[in-house]
Amino acid sequence: MIAYRGGRLQLEGLPAKRLAARFGTPLYVYSRKTVLEKLARMRAAFGGLSPLICYALKANSNRAFCRILSGAGCGAEVVSGGEILRALAAGFKPGTIVYSGVGKTREEIRLALRRKIMAFNVESREELFAIEREAAKLRIVAPISPRINADIKAGTHPHVATGEAGNKFGVSPEEALIITRQALRSRHLRVVGLQSHLGSQIASLRPYRELLSALERLAAALKGSGTALEFLDIGGGFAVDYDEGGKILDLRGLASLAKKTMKACPGARLVIEPGRYLSADAGVLLSRALYRKESFGRKFLIVDAAMNDLARPALYGAKHPVWPEKKDGKREKTDVVGPICESADFLARGIWLPKTMPGDLIAVSKAGAYGFSMSSQYNSRPRAAEILIENGKARLVRQRETLKELLGPEI
Ligand SMILES: Cc1ncc(COP(=O)(O)O)c(C=O)c1O
Repeated sequence: MIAYRGGRLQLEGLPAKRLAARFGTPLYVYSRKTVLEKLARMRAAFGGLSPLICYALKANSNRAFCRILSGAGCGAEVVSGGEILRALAAGFKPGTIVYSGVGKTREEIRLALRRKIMAFNVESREELFAIEREAAKLRIVAPISPRINADIKAGTHPHVATGEAGNKFGVSPEEALIITRQALRSRHLRVVGLQSHLGSQIASLRPYRELLSALERLAAALKGSGTALEFLDIGGGFAVDYDEGGKILDLRGLASLAKKTMKACPGARLVIEPGRYLSADAGVLLSRALYRKESFGRKFLIVDAAMNDLARPALYGAKHPVWPEKKDGKREKTDVVGPICESADFLARGIWLPKTMPGDLIAVSKAGAYGFSMSSQYNSRPRAAEILIENGKARLVRQRETLKELLGPEI
């Protein structure tokens, strides 16, 4: 979605300069074409296995953006009552929504039950009882899928590893069997699947191979117990090539591993929960340079986007490609930083950029996942506007917050 034409920066064929002039900066720019291309690539890799693709809303929950995926037949993975409402508002069918998270409140559980979601990914025995109590009050049966933590090293950043011993997520396979037995005894619980999510930004097949074996073993242990598994959900985590030239996951390889497991579980459908794989490449954060600065021999380009707009570099040391407005010019080694009063506030460090002057634009690419959705008002900065480019036209899909709105809820 990002390229130079005649030496000038273009986003999905539209001049970045024109978009910035019309919508202001910092600005999130999304591409419908790119997200649909990623979806098509994912579907092609899985071929006849036809998994239910439950898009992880946390990656980018903008309603217009989500509508692209619901319209293309995806389900949704959600982690809060707010995300349930967003998913429904974006047109995802309730029967294709799976609900994860270790801290589901009673109100959230009730909301999910009332809206008849596909399954609760149960993360503890206490949560199981809470779901049972709420289902009993509503006199319905809650569909559940224990979230399995099989202690598999995902080989990723520790902050985004979720399937290892020591993480707060999921239950051990042994605990999952106890949960399943408990559910079998309940009139208000029904085990419909097994779920797991190893973590994010995983580029190797090894952890998925181990996970599929663990799920297969568990499914075998449940045979004859009265539990009919309708799906096996292997979560998301499929790596994005942030470094341009870095490793990504071999999706076709994953599909062929999954095929074997699904053969051993007749009647069950494969579910996957990609977040960043679908959305990261479909978003760019457009920002304008404010100042240049040199301090102790280090060059800084100070721009109007900051860690409150894109937290990933500060949170994980994530590296996003930075595209200057003008492609050519003498390059210099620069840190690209925002106005926030934290030394962790950088968008890129020590990168080689053509000399960029105050007023020039830069675009941070691969920012469509965990960009706006993680953004905050830290330092009392209104959150950025979001636009979507469809069929060569840009439209506003979230207004820029105003200073007035910052203070609005305070009394
Ligand atoms: C349960 C669950 N599923 C799916 C995802 C999506 O992960 P990713 O965006 O890396 O694909 C997450 C991310 O945290 C998650 O917690």
